[in-house]
Amino acid sequence: MREDPLAGLPDSVEIVEVGPRDGLQNERASLPVEARVELVRRLAAAGLRRIEAGAFVSPKWVPQMAASDELFRRLAGLPELAGVRLSALVPNARGLERAREAGVTEIAVFGAASETFSHRNLNASIAESLARFRELVAAARDLGLRVRGYVSCIAGCPYEGDVPTARVVEVAGALYDMGCAEIALGDTIGTGTPRHIARVVRACAGRVPVARLALHLHDTYGQALANALAGLECGVRVLDAAVGGLGGCPYAPGASGNLATEDLVYMLEGSGVRTGVDLDALVETARWICGRVGRTPTARVTLARTAACAR
Ligand code: HMG
Ligand code: MG
Repeated sequence: MREDPLAGLPDSVEIVEVGPRDGLQNERASLPVEARVELVRRLAAAGLRRIEAGAFVSPKWVPQMAASDELFRRLAGLPELAGVRLSALVPNARGLERAREAGVTEIAVFGAASETFSHRNLNASIAESLARFRELVAAARDLGLRVRGYVSCIAGCPYEGDVPTARVVEVAGALYDMGCAEIALGDTIGTGTPRHIARVVRACAGRVPVARLALHLHDTYGQALANALAGLECGVRVLDAAVGGLGGCPYAPGASGNLATEDLVYMLEGSGVRTGVDLDALVETARWICGRVGRTPTARVTLARTAACAR
């Protein structure tokens, strides 16, 4: 037997909390800005140091993110958020203008490895979106902003099925070359399995330094935690997750929540990997936000803790 089958695990991992964006964009009703501010505040108090808080996309496409301007202005005034990296999605020049006016310092552009998903999500082909992002990333960097680049559909597409890994590498490489500081590989519909995700990560790491890769895993098929572990074994050190297991993409039918932050923190801390997150405070935040949006959390840790409290 191998002495330590998880020898590749690091001492610490950086978690990017995407609940306020990926989670809330998928809810039927838009949450008032006040509640979105409170969510970010609670997540930061639980120890999360990177939070994707909103999106400067078209409100006609995703109304739930409409008031991100006001959200960021309000967040900028909170002293307890000093030292927390807040970011937002930006799809085009109009979005960059709005982000800049709201005082955002980190943005994310979002491309895809599937042609049909790219059309549905951005109304543009992969090539058109990359050309648009090239200008956008240059303009953002000129303004001193840090830019992350997402690649959606790294393991499967809701419209096209299998997605060739070579296409994922191509898009990841293009985003890296144009100046994205981090490339987030998104299993948008959660169909990937650990060996598949490991294959994609290794292939991308041949094009982009592995230290610049992050994994953004949806849990539709219950694989996200296992896939996160596979990513860590391949050298990934940045993982996205959403409180309560909220999440999904309005343009990816059937895509359910993200890897739940509570489950990720429980697995990592239990395995001796530091996250800086206070699990009790996080579980409390999950209960609170799920109550606000009228959902039962899908995070197993929160369900288990809630059941234990009820006994
Ligand atoms: P379009 O319709 O081709 O663009 O959409 P347009 O330029 O023709 O604009 C249409 C209208 O929207 C116009 O208004 C624009 O002014 C307005 P009108 O003239 O009709 O009154 N508009 C905007 N308003 C505010 N802010 C803006 C903006 N842009 C245009 N930035 C567009 C193109 C890219 C805008 C649209 O497709 C869009 O917003 N897409 C975003 C979709 C989205 O947010 N999807 C979810 C996030 S991605 C995701 O969840 C995946 C991820 O989690 C990773 C993973 O899981 O794999 C990141
Ligand atoms: Mg997502």
